[in-house]
Amino acid sequence: MAGHRSFFLDEDLDAYVQAHSPPVDDVQRSLIEETDSLGPVARMQVAPDQAAFLALLVAAVRPKFAVEVGTFTGFSSLAIARALPEGGRLLCCDISTEWTDIARRHWSMAGVDDRIDLVIAPAIETLQALPDARHVDFAFLDADKAGYLAYYEELVPRMSPHGIIAVDNVLWSGRVLDAGTEDTDTVALQEFNDHVMADDRVTSVLLSVGDGVNLIRPA
Ligand SMILES: C[S@@+](CC[C@H](N)C(=O)[O-])C[C@H]1O[C@@H](n2cnc3c(N)ncnc32)[C@H](O)[C@@H]1O
Repeated sequence: MAGHRSFFLDEDLDAYVQAHSPPVDDVQRSLIEETDSLGPVARMQVAPDQAAFLALLVAAVRPKFAVEVGTFTGFSSLAIARALPEGGRLLCCDISTEWTDIARRHWSMAGVDDRIDLVIAPAIETLQALPDARHVDFAFLDADKAGYLAYYEELVPRMSPHGIIAVDNVLWSGRVLDAGTEDTDTVALQEFNDHVMADDRVTSVLLSVGDGVNLIRPA
């Protein structure tokens, strides 16, 4: 499970956090192992404590309709789907069939495949095709960082009044502090966090869980 640890925790504190969060079950363990076998990209998978955090949020919000942008091998979507209320649906957006095939198999193992719709296409197209109504109750953004702002702009007007958007990697291992950086992803995340903070349509809090999660709700 190397690489799953929050950048901001040392090994001992991470072990303590994991020991005081829900234990991973067989499906999650299988997903972690299969994802690890892919090599360094496995680092993209959310950590178990962050998945548990998403599940807790979803259980509280009780979304009828949730959206995930950036599914990869399915660890976060598995947590979201399992926490949905009866009849709740999750729309997953990704561009990789190779990675999401692993997700599909694990959704099926967990018995939640029938509540997930996976669309393989650039996420911006999938989001733009959604109805204009305020029908999104929960959204998790974890895809290409340069796309965050555009995804957010599609989602905010579509969020239901009690909806929540959770945005991953907003601290980018601390690189958001790098004021003069020209790194595209870092600049995108800096601009994204500044944009959310200045946006009076929403209220937000930036949490240092995982690699940083910006939690956003309509104001
Ligand atoms: C950080 S990973 C997501 C990790 C996942 N949430 C998890 O817990 O395992 C980012 C994913 O975004 C996808 N992605 C990248 N650019 C995309 C785009 N333009 N539209 C949709 N998905 C994209 C990648 O294929 C990759 O699977």
